Amino acid sequence: MKTEKEKELNRKMVLDYAGEKSKEKEREEFDINREFVHCGDFELMLVKNNSLMFKLTNSIVKLYVLSNKIAKIEMFKYPKKDYSDGEKDKFFKKICEKEFKASLAIYKKQWNNFKFGVEEAKDKIFIDTGMINIEINKRPFNIRYLHDKMIINEDFESKGMGSFGQGVCAYKKLDNSEHFYGFGEKTGGLDKRQWETIQWNTDNPEEHNDETKSLYCSIPFFIGLRNKKAYGIYFDNTHKTYFNMGKDDSDYYYYFAADKGELVYYFIYGPSMKEVIEGYTEITGRMKMPPMWSLGYQQCRWSYCPENQVLELAKTFREKDIPCDTIYLDIDYMDGFRVFTWDKERFPNHKDMINQLHDMGFKLVTIIDPGVKVDEKYKVYNEGTENNYFLKDHNGNIFSGKVWPMDSVFPDFSNNKVRTWWGNLNAELIKQGVDGIWNDMNEPSLFDTKSGTLPKDLVHNSDDRTMFHEEFHNLYGMIEDKATFNGIKNAFPDKRVFLLSRSGFAGLQRYSALWTGDNQSLWEHIKLSIPMNCNLGLSGISFIGNDIGGFGGNCTSELLIRWTQLGTFIPMFRNHSAIGTINQEPWAFDKQTEDICRKYIKFRYELLPYLYNLFYDSVKHGEPVLRPLIYEFQEDNEVVNINDEFMFGENVLIAPILEKGCTERKVYLPQGNWINYYTMEQHKGKATINVSAPLEIIPVFVKEGSIIPKYKTASSTSTIDKNILLLDIIPNMNSKAEYNYYEDDGKSFNYEKGEYNITKISLEENRNKYKLEVKKIYKGYEKSFDKLYVNIINSVQPQKIKFMCKDSEISDIAFTYTNNTISFNIETKNDFCIEIQK
Ligand code: GLC
Repeated sequence: MKTEKEKELNRKMVLDYAGEKSKEKEREEFDINREFVHCGDFELMLVKNNSLMFKLTNSIVKLYVLSNKIAKIEMFKYPKKDYSDGEKDKFFKKICEKEFKASLAIYKKQWNNFKFGVEEAKDKIFIDTGMINIEINKRPFNIRYLHDKMIINEDFESKGMGSFGQGVCAYKKLDNSEHFYGFGEKTGGLDKRQWETIQWNTDNPEEHNDETKSLYCSIPFFIGLRNKKAYGIYFDNTHKTYFNMGKDDSDYYYYFAADKGELVYYFIYGPSMKEVIEGYTEITGRMKMPPMWSLGYQQCRWSYCPENQVLELAKTFREKDIPCDTIYLDIDYMDGFRVFTWDKERFPNHKDMINQLHDMGFKLVTIIDPGVKVDEKYKVYNEGTENNYFLKDHNGNIFSGKVWPMDSVFPDFSNNKVRTWWGNLNAELIKQGVDGIWNDMNEPSLFDTKSGTLPKDLVHNSDDRTMFHEEFHNLYGMIEDKATFNGIKNAFPDKRVFLLSRSGFAGLQRYSALWTGDNQSLWEHIKLSIPMNCNLGLSGISFIGNDIGGFGGNCTSELLIRWTQLGTFIPMFRNHSAIGTINQEPWAFDKQTEDICRKYIKFRYELLPYLYNLFYDSVKHGEPVLRPLIYEFQEDNEVVNINDEFMFGENVLIAPILEKGCTERKVYLPQGNWINYYTMEQHKGKATINVSAPLEIIPVFVKEGSIIPKYKTASSTSTIDKNILLLDIIPNMNSKAEYNYYEDDGKSFNYEKGEYNITKISLEENRNKYKLEVKKIYKGYEKSFDKLYVNIINSVQPQKIKFMCKDSEISDIAFTYTNNTISFNIETKNDFCIEIQK
């Protein structure tokens, strides 16, 4: 911890610098055309615990071996070009002694001392972690990662790591076989080879197209797939960063760079994408279990108001028998867009309204923007100014800019006191009965600056030092979410928190779900949401959603049908639209549209146990809920860039309709045997098939050997009967179908104390029989299903079904057999086994 005196000194230094720099028109940005200074040649190496420190001619490089698959690289330029040998030695000593502070994205800061082998030869240094080999070339200094003698990733010949003025850059060799994924919220195709992007949180509602370089959420992480082996690189730099994956003239290299800061990156080896994401989320953290209600259907519009319109909306859902869990209030519930207030005219009895919503089984989520209205009669503004909570320029004046409430000031979330204050304000809303918070405009967005955001030279008084906005910009939204999350969690320790954020950075998954901002009611936008969602999932963020039906522009009945069908399989299922556009609730068009939307929203509720279990995999291992095909079928060359299909978990393939007027499509099915979920028709994988998809159908395929747990549908998650579990089982002759079913209370953090159950369900098939086993392999939660409704799909006609349980006699079970499906019910709390005689 820095002393007050040190902090003051640092502050003064930064402000002096700001004074100088503000004279420049634009603050310096990374420029590839400036002279590149390579990190230099090897001079000296020091090995200490799990790190190797290299003194080079132009910089110091530290390499930490964090595990057998994860390494971290840090490069520090010498502060001046013309450093003497003595000064370089001194700097080397300082760097060796001091641990570089990780960015706020990093969750795991302490690693056990991992033992590895090091060997120094004349021109090279060899590191052996037991899993990967790291080979260092001394002159010029560069790094190569290998597994089983195969190169996984390597610096680009003479370039490698280095700097451009204040910027830093790493050049990597591009292999012919290489494909790239991840990068967070990006437009364009799934595979990001020959593509470039900028990580700089930007509110850009107009242009969501292939050319767009920056959107609301930035994640400087990617996965490379080289010769079918996956590795990940997380560039831990919060400034504006640049990724060029072999765009333009280069078939030989790719690079990542930053305007400022140090070159710090983590290298994570797979070889599967699954293992890379597991490693990446070990570093940046994983999500907590979401409240079950947040996985139901959500209805939003800018804006449902006044109060009686909100209640009418809720009643209409119940009257029309369309399930729904959540209603949102957009900015018009506030008094003149003052955050944490209510418009007394439009919402005179908001607590009563919330109670009525709760009674009908709804949850309420309210929007919060970070801009606080400049108004001397407004409590939040006064508290913030009195306590120095708002961002200032380098002259010490509070910065104000225009957003919804017009002149607004912005909390400095880099400071703990501000975070606590903001967290408490949010907790206050929850005390009033609100169930979740929607953090919008937190890039942060501004209407009156050319850049659309805060000036880069605003000053943040962070917990341990003073820094410019250019360093904190990408973190602003995520740290607002952190403040909100912690404020609510502290006030309500037993309640799961639901937050939805527009902006984010690496690690956002620890605090909030993300939606992809202001899309439009366009076929192009439903289309681009598929690779965007897949790449977000591959960037550690599982809880994602897009505005179903499109935010801007007018939706049509056909688009709403296709988007609602798709939404059934999107981790967060929220219909949202802008002010001034036509309504797009499920009933807003005609009866056919309403009926189809109802059918799919009901289907979503049936699928909740399956979806909930996918979230559990995210909590445990960082696995995405929605995945590109390449994630599950890494060996299949055909799926490196599939943009119009995705996997909903391991075994369910979704092939949405993304074009106007289209009623059939081609679907590529990877390795395995698949069944059409509606017709039960079988298809051999590794083939492209034609599928008919009339308006009421979104093609869904399930792989043989799958077990899908389901609920009976309900009007909301509060009325689901969790005692009944439905199982759809698709047997596989060649291998056992197995599924670990997770259940907990769906609302508290007690699962973290072990209050959950895991039931192993398996089905084995041989020539004479099927054998179904259901066994609790972990029991920590007192409630559990006690009725099972089983469907064995695509099966042969059974002769007899025998039920065996430890405490009861063997008995015969009644069953039906229709459409090649065996169906029967079991009522027991105990483990059991069932034999089905063919
Ligand atoms: C922003 C949000 C949008 C919201 C609107 C009004 O455009 O992205 O979802 O409805 O602001 O608050």
